[in-house]
Amino acid sequence: MKILAIETSCDETAASVVAKNPKENYVKVLSNVVASSLILHSKTGGIIPDIAAREQLKFIIPVIEKAIENCKLKIENLDAIAVTYGPGLIGSLLIGVETAKTLSYLWNKPIIPVNHLFGHIYANWIYPQSSVLGSQLSDSSQSVHQLTGKLKTDKLESENRQQKTDNRILFPAITLLVSGGHTDLLLMENHNNFKWLGGTLDDAAGEAFDKIGRLLNLPYPAGPTMEALAKNGNSKAFTFPRPMIGSKDFDFSFSGLKAAAMREVIKLKKGVAKEEGRPDNAQRREHWREGLLLTGPQLKAAKKYNVKSILLGGGVTANQKLRDELIHNTKYLIPDTEIFFPKKFLCTDNAAMIGAYAAFHPEEMSWNKITANPELYFE
Ligand code: KG4
Ligand code: ZN
Repeated sequence: MKILAIETSCDETAASVVAKNPKENYVKVLSNVVASSLILHSKTGGIIPDIAAREQLKFIIPVIEKAIENCKLKIENLDAIAVTYGPGLIGSLLIGVETAKTLSYLWNKPIIPVNHLFGHIYANWIYPQSSVLGSQLSDSSQSVHQLTGKLKTDKLESENRQQKTDNRILFPAITLLVSGGHTDLLLMENHNNFKWLGGTLDDAAGEAFDKIGRLLNLPYPAGPTMEALAKNGNSKAFTFPRPMIGSKDFDFSFSGLKAAAMREVIKLKKGVAKEEGRPDNAQRREHWREGLLLTGPQLKAAKKYNVKSILLGGGVTANQKLRDELIHNTKYLIPDTEIFFPKKFLCTDNAAMIGAYAAFHPEEMSWNKITANPELYFE
């Protein structure tokens, strides 16, 4: 099955062609094009919906044309069009949805509407994935540690992937979705059954990164910049609260942390706190230990439900520190559980992940029944 996928839920305009063989348990990406208006939003500290939608109107047709051209397929060889119908910004969603409907009518192809949140999760089924087994990692991480003095997770990921032959994500699986708008924990029994276990009570994790970034005058979105700056930081410089860490349920909270960070920034700006020789502002981010805050509940759930796989998805999961924390803790707690991450460029918004979900759930709909739903959640 070959699917043209379209994603326009936020500021990206993305199109991709993916293919899935019914006998295979993964999706191949034949082309993947992403145009972003981020540069226009980076100075304003957030996305301005009108500007995002106007840019998407300009990009949508060239991006789709490029995706089809890059995979060298003829339109008649496409089996369906997948499109994100929510959640997201209404103006942005409408551009993708209405374009998909028009193409569906013109080309006489069925449409598969996709929930953006499931798209992030299904980035894990795109081949080749990154995967590590907790127990495998404990050996190889030690040797790499000795050689270089530093855990090189990327290298380990690719080494371990080479050892694995089937690339199969086994169920049940625990999935942590962490993006700019969502922080949710799900138990997946199989491709059609899942249970929502918990989510954030206030801000999403990515939103906390971005809001603190604005206080520090970092460009939007702040997550990648903070990650880069934190590499030279001092993780012991500040002690920040870790909300919900002792909680028995699977919820998250980031607003207390955000407020505490804000107080420190204000103190620093007033010259009240001393900087203790820290080379830059972002090292305070380092001490938040997002790995524990975010992956603590995931590991707790993984143990409780005795899962076979642990999955990450969403923009924040591009963060290497988060990945390292998860790998590290899994090794001690549940070493036989395999961890899967999407490739880093597939963590942030893209259309390949939308195609991946559609390929596993080819639930077609007539074009005149599809409407954008900005409030869509897990249903
Ligand atoms: O999934 P995504 O592209 O969009 C949404 O669906 O929200 O996620 C964007 C979020 C932003 O908040 C951004 O700051 C964060 O992901 N992000 C990161 C990193 N890369 C992107 N956060 C931490 N570390 C990163 N490397
Ligand atoms: Zn997203």
